[in-house]
Amino acid sequence: MGHRIAVTVNGTVREAEVEPRLLLVHFLREVLGLTGTHIGCDTTNCGACTVLLDGRAVKSCTIFAVQADGRAVMTVEGLARDGQLHPIQEAFHRQHGLQCGFCTPGMMMAAYALLQRLPDPTEEQIRWGIAGNLCRCTGYVNIVAAIKDAAEKLRTGPAAVGGRS
Ligand code: FES
Ligand code: FES
Repeated sequence: MGHRIAVTVNGTVREAEVEPRLLLVHFLREVLGLTGTHIGCDTTNCGACTVLLDGRAVKSCTIFAVQADGRAVMTVEGLARDGQLHPIQEAFHRQHGLQCGFCTPGMMMAAYALLQRLPDPTEEQIRWGIAGNLCRCTGYVNIVAAIKDAAEKLRTGPAAVGGRS
């Protein structure tokens, strides 16, 4: 039997009837069509499915959609505003923080959560902040550089962290 849930996703309340065992990542991708959140493993290892739940980075393949009922989810689609890339997205582009791009949405959401908590992180703090996110392409060096770059722009630039949670 389905459960009626209402989840605020990127600032908009989305209601649906879902099976109790539906994972949050499948709710986002298949029910809402938000395919920016990727599935790399389905076993809580890779972090490709990272989103924010009430502001905290979580692996959406590890959470049931019903657990998000009444809460706020932010996905990678919530980063850009009015056609403008978020400073984290711009920094990944500028610093070549991706190759195939599969890990990138999860990396950016982990970075977002990290920079909310630590606006001026050290390299070690950045590496801990993305420790739950695997990248098979880049060797992480440019991802770390991108997060450092984004942190600086967010601290010094006109834009606040922004996004729609
Ligand atoms: S798909 Fe969720 S951690 Fe890999
Ligand atoms: S850019 Fe390919 S997995 Fe990270």
